[in-house]
Amino acid sequence: MFDLAARAEPRPVYLTVQEVTKRFGRFVALDRVSLEIREGEFVSFLGPSGCGKTTLLRAIAGLDPPSEGRIVQAGRDITLLPPGERDFGIVFQSYALFPNLDVRRNIAYGLRGPAWPREKVEARVAELLAMVGLQEHARKYPAQLSGGQQQRVALARALANHPGLLLLDEPLSALDAIVRARLRTEIRALQKSLGVTTIMVTHDQEEALSVSDRIVVMNEGRIEQIGTPEEVYRRPASAFVAGFVGRSGSFAAEVEAPRRLRAGPVSIEADGAASLSPGQAARAFVRPEDVRLGPEAEGHPGAFEALVTGVEFLGPVCRVHLLAEGVRLEADVPSEQIPRLDLGRVAKLRVAIPADRVMTYPDG
Ligand SMILES: Nc1ncnc2c1ncn2[C@@H]1O[C@H](COP(=O)(O)OP(=O)(O)O)[C@@H](O)[C@H]1O
Ligand SMILES: [Mg+2]
Repeated sequence: MFDLAARAEPRPVYLTVQEVTKRFGRFVALDRVSLEIREGEFVSFLGPSGCGKTTLLRAIAGLDPPSEGRIVQAGRDITLLPPGERDFGIVFQSYALFPNLDVRRNIAYGLRGPAWPREKVEARVAELLAMVGLQEHARKYPAQLSGGQQQRVALARALANHPGLLLLDEPLSALDAIVRARLRTEIRALQKSLGVTTIMVTHDQEEALSVSDRIVVMNEGRIEQIGTPEEVYRRPASAFVAGFVGRSGSFAAEVEAPRRLRAGPVSIEADGAASLSPGQAARAFVRPEDVRLGPEAEGHPGAFEALVTGVEFLGPVCRVHLLAEGVRLEADVPSEQIPRLDLGRVAKLRVAIPADRVMTYPDG
């Protein structure tokens, strides 16, 4: 059911990270990182290995407090609070289950003290087992479970005490592709139904795009962009984001005129060049699905010729590799349209790129 009122009214901010810097000796792992996460949001930290994702997650969990800056959760300054006094559940990449405890005991591990009499623990564990679909496996030990099942146990354990914040550090990276895709969908569905504010660390851009409300793209200890998956994909804030998120071909160019780029003999309209000055060096990025080929490019004012250097079959589409005097591009064409291009006989094709699909950034 659509709840339009709730959509129109943004949820309150739940977590604030303010100017957080983290140093290891002289190395700066996080450089004045700031962000806000709203109640119930699913936010991914996305970036290449070593960019500081885990460091930021650990600062939020209190496992490794920041060198500078502030972290506020649910109105409370938690910057220097020890992990045990915070309100979060966490799942790591490596399963981190207790090998000598069965599934029930692993899940119940944090449910101790006067608030958790035995019957209440048993009821909660039963509920969690059902939630992650492991009722049949309650008495097994971690070694008797698949990787995907072990991560479900870790997820149930992280959620056991109704945390206000769920932290996931590459929870799917060790799993094979099919299990990974299924489990990410399940985690997202579960997160939505519980409404728990969630942060997932991942280096996998497809994973981040598919499950997140918003994505924080990181590079070398800094935030490059924060946005919805669509914003980050369609309007990357920097050349780094354009190159890291989604597939794209890129080439060096020069701003020839306002909204026009030149790369060798190729001269194309590019809306993104409007913010640069004529003569300026630029780098252009183009997504394979945005390149028009053959008959589709005809009549386009900026169409040019390119040599076909290869064709890869990817199932639903074929990826056509193109070269136009130093400008390399890739174009995705629905596989059933490939025969129409007559690539057996034709080595060159007309190519066109819509001006609003040329992502342009200053170079160097
Ligand atoms: N305890 C530590 N001591 C020294 N350097 C560290 C420590 N933890 C992380 N780093 C460094 O900080 C950088 C960011 O690491 P990390 O946050 O784990 O990256 P990511 O999770 O994005 O792959 C890396 O260069 C890493 O080597
Ligand atoms: Mg990491």
